[in-house]
Amino acid sequence: MYIFKKITDLQRLIRQSGVPVGFAPTMGALHDGHLELIRMAKQDGCLAVASIFVNPTQFNDPKDLEKYPRMPEKDAALLDSAGCDVLFIPSVEEVYPPGVDLTVSLDFGALDQVMEGKFRPGHFKGMATVVNRLLDIVRPQRLYMGQKDYQQLSIVRDMIRQLQLPVELVMCPTVREPDGLAMSSRNLRLSLEMRGIAPIIHQTLQWAKKALEAGQSASVIQEEALEKLQAAGLTPEYFEIVNGITLLPVTSAKEATSIVACTAAFAGEVRLIDNLVFK
Ligand code: PAJ
Repeated sequence: MYIFKKITDLQRLIRQSGVPVGFAPTMGALHDGHLELIRMAKQDGCLAVASIFVNPTQFNDPKDLEKYPRMPEKDAALLDSAGCDVLFIPSVEEVYPPGVDLTVSLDFGALDQVMEGKFRPGHFKGMATVVNRLLDIVRPQRLYMGQKDYQQLSIVRDMIRQLQLPVELVMCPTVREPDGLAMSSRNLRLSLEMRGIAPIIHQTLQWAKKALEAGQSASVIQEEALEKLQAAGLTPEYFEIVNGITLLPVTSAKEATSIVACTAAFAGEVRLIDNLVFK
């Protein structure tokens, strides 16, 4: 596996390779969910390129940025073992050259206003900015991203549409621990007690799916779901059943062709998100 810190070195290798590029941007502290993106890119016959960049512009909480786990050597070994061809691990100055404004200021309608958008102001603007910048650097044919961050994926899809970027977005299903907890770099920071409680998030999403299918109203389910998370010892921020395309609330199972439930909850000091596609 090649490891590059500089854009020019990365671009030279990519130009020489002559194969379609499959790109998976990450913030490191890698787990099997990240590695699955690389495996998918390889299965699709791509030159698999991963990036590790803890993007300062998407952290609305400075403490969260400071505490974000960093383990580049271990990550590089994992990527290598998953068949990754190239790792790009740039400095902040390489991604954001001083004095150059690369901010993406698109209007995403409701997509970046609801759910995560309400609780993490500025987060999606920073995320869209870095993904656009990395796409401009790597110029991949395919972009691999996880369903785990459903709202992020919806916004990236809309950014690709609005900017007419020449890249195909590929969604990778959420990879979970055996007890259902969605894999996340943040899981490393869970206390033993909270790690035991956290699977209630996936269980509650599954319960909500059944309840909606049984004809219960979305607003009642949402209230009960929040109570379940709270009773288990978590501090939920939201639990919303929404249209899978517009991310706006739905009231019943019949209302939309695509429905997804999304939730965020604190497990101690660690903020976890998850979702489940209902249909
Ligand atoms: P990060 O949280 O490191 O995630 C990188 C990619 O891995 C994202 O596309 C995310 O959806 C995917 N991913 C994370 N956990 C997953 C899981 N359990 N199953 C499947 N895929 C999973 O998301 C980001 O970084 C950043 O916002 C980024 C897009 C890199 C921009 O900075």
